[in-house]
Amino acid sequence: MIRKEEAYQDIEFPKGFLWGAATSAHQVEGNNTNNQWWAWEQEGGHINDGSISGRACDHYNLYEKDFDLIKQLGHNTHRFSIEWSRIEPKEGKWSKKEIDHYRQVIQALNDRDITPMVTLHHFTDPIWLAEKGGWLNPKVVELFERYTRKVVESLGDLIPFYNTINEPVWVAYASYGLGVHPPCHNDMNEFYTAGKHFLMAHGKCYRAIHETVKDMGFKIKPQVGIVKQMMYYDPVDPNVKEDVEEAERMDELTNRWFLEGIHTGIIRKPFGKGEELEYLKDSWDIIGVNYYTRSQISPRLNDPKVLELMLSRRGESTDMYEVYPEGFYKQLMSVKKYGKPVYVTENGIATKDDKQRCRYILIHLREVHKAIRDGLDLRGFMYWSLMDNFEWSLGYSMRFGLIEIDYETLERKPRPSAYLYRDIIKSNKITAQQFEKYL
Ligand code: NOJ
Repeated sequence: MIRKEEAYQDIEFPKGFLWGAATSAHQVEGNNTNNQWWAWEQEGGHINDGSISGRACDHYNLYEKDFDLIKQLGHNTHRFSIEWSRIEPKEGKWSKKEIDHYRQVIQALNDRDITPMVTLHHFTDPIWLAEKGGWLNPKVVELFERYTRKVVESLGDLIPFYNTINEPVWVAYASYGLGVHPPCHNDMNEFYTAGKHFLMAHGKCYRAIHETVKDMGFKIKPQVGIVKQMMYYDPVDPNVKEDVEEAERMDELTNRWFLEGIHTGIIRKPFGKGEELEYLKDSWDIIGVNYYTRSQISPRLNDPKVLELMLSRRGESTDMYEVYPEGFYKQLMSVKKYGKPVYVTENGIATKDDKQRCRYILIHLREVHKAIRDGLDLRGFMYWSLMDNFEWSLGYSMRFGLIEIDYETLERKPRPSAYLYRDIIKSNKITAQQFEKYL
């Protein structure tokens, strides 16, 4: 996995590199009672460890304290999401109180010289939207656009970076195709419909942000992009045609059609009919990449030998995913052809072993560095997550945080990995000694 001769050398990151961590509203704020996740959690029995999001990390109230910590930890950027269901609790009714809240949140980052990166949609929908069919309803595209305009009108003078939608293809699949997120449908056609609506909504949202900033006469020139989860599909046996073809099919179904859609404006089959939408074409200034792991792919999984091969190739485990840094480099380089600045919007590990987290960070940052060395215009890295939080249907048992949360007392405690990360940020490099110490 790690080539010895490359293991212990200093590596340096470009000047002005953005360093930070990411969160999302529902996972950290607490009491997001107006969205479909909250409603689903109340039904009981859906979250693996029996938890519900509840007051989460109470970041809604403790954000200033958290931003002080971020500052102490040296971060110069912070990615977080605005909760649609707070801003628009009833269809077409805007909450001034919540808009003001997010204004204070963004201001609090600016006051600390921490660049805000704002996500407009991170898995959650207002209950009123879910009741109208959520992302299956074609109206969602204009509803999301309207919400976007409201956010930008109200807060756009303060926001330099927007992520339109977080992991749109995964959300569409998890909610409508696979049935592990609410409303838990199992229908591939619904997945295609929701996926298409996410793509269209992204395009509309991109145009709406730039138009609104211009109409409002804001001085800021925001950078807008999608956040795409880039799972690496690895053929179990690269010498077997069926495995290679199946991996390519998965890559097309979950990665390519969406990125190509934004690039060309064409909605490929089976999500669309090949229609070309002018507003969608080239609707990005930046690309956000989330990377966690690979998936080994073969259509021959009923063959015990294939299963055996698959297991024998498996790398180090974490509480959630296999560690596979090589796929990170590959997926980063796969977006180079679009010629846009790239930001790692998420990369991180669920583990109770913080030494493992330190190792994980180092070996993944090394892939980031390789991609930069090989010509990728990669401008920032955001670790997932700033703090332990509500890991969706897996609840609170997953520990992704640089900062440990005691859910009883709400005490925040930076882990050793947070200090390692701070040292990397401070020097803008990883030293050979740091690699030696942890690898
Ligand atoms: C991606 C999602 O954006 C985030 O919400 C989630 O917690 C992490 N992956 C870890 O699974």
